Amino acid sequence: MFDRFRRTRINPTLRALVRETSVSADDFIYPLFVRTGSGIKTEVDSMPGVYQMSLDEILKECAHLQTLGLNSIILFGIPDVKDSIGSDSLCEHGIIANAVREVKKAYPDMFVVTDLCFCEYTDHGHCGIIDEKDTINNDATLEISAQQAIIHAKAGADMIAPSGMMDGIIQTLREALDGAGYENLPIMSYSTKFASGYYGPFRDVAESTPSFGDRSSYQMDPANRREAIAESVSDELQGADILMVKPALAYLDIVREIKDATSLPMAVYNVSGEYAMLKMAGMNDLIDYERVVMETMVAFKRAGADIIISYHAKEVALMLQNKV
Ligand code: PBG
Ligand code: ZN
Repeated sequence: MFDRFRRTRINPTLRALVRETSVSADDFIYPLFVRTGSGIKTEVDSMPGVYQMSLDEILKECAHLQTLGLNSIILFGIPDVKDSIGSDSLCEHGIIANAVREVKKAYPDMFVVTDLCFCEYTDHGHCGIIDEKDTINNDATLEISAQQAIIHAKAGADMIAPSGMMDGIIQTLREALDGAGYENLPIMSYSTKFASGYYGPFRDVAESTPSFGDRSSYQMDPANRREAIAESVSDELQGADILMVKPALAYLDIVREIKDATSLPMAVYNVSGEYAMLKMAGMNDLIDYERVVMETMVAFKRAGADIIISYHAKEVALMLQNKV
């Protein structure tokens, strides 16, 4: 008996020749958290290696990212003042608009993606407008989402990534952007976003834990596979340019199925809780950290992801340059 594949495994060069999946720095979007002030770089307790930064520090970080071959970032804002409708995100001089303008001015080649949502900007921490019954008002949220998209576009964003999963958001944003002359601005939809415990550490960084209730009326039940596919297919029909599955690790079956069901590029969001798990295990010498990180990234690509949004991006870029 012989295993026909064994002959192509022995020699490392041949192994590389036949390898089906590869990871490179240009697969990644690196998340950055911006807040007001200067000289601020505060490490997040639950995510060692991830920081809240003031804009001056963000600019320094962009220079560093480019030396690593990382040319795409997704920006999240932490405003000083939060209110019921997330006004800071609707203002041309809000935290995100300022950050996008400054980054694009200093680094015109940096591809700047904006997360479009309200949970970081609202005092109640929900992803949209809440009506009297403490439920999300979907249509009112669509209206202000269109305003937020125009703010991002005017500031110079290269791609808009709506993450609130409101019904009809993609069509609303596409029409708003086209109407304002931004026909060429792509939309990456958080099209299949599960109600997940894996977002815990992010809510610490973004200071966006809901003050009541949870997000299960607008995020998906992890148990539902067909609904997961339908949500992404619906966003494709509404005009999304890139689809996304979030979180990544526990949902790779869904990534593959959506990849096969649509013709759009796919992103995965390797979320905060996934990062924290590997980081903590690595820091406690429970796993070979670099090896497990790379194995995880390969798994995302193998499942069908074209884009990986990950807090590991800098480490991966270093590994690819053989510096770790
Ligand atoms: C905003 C948003 C969240 C994440 C990305 N965009 C938080 C949430 O949905 O609660 C999570 C990212 C992560 O956990 O790393 N809506
Ligand atoms: Zn949100």
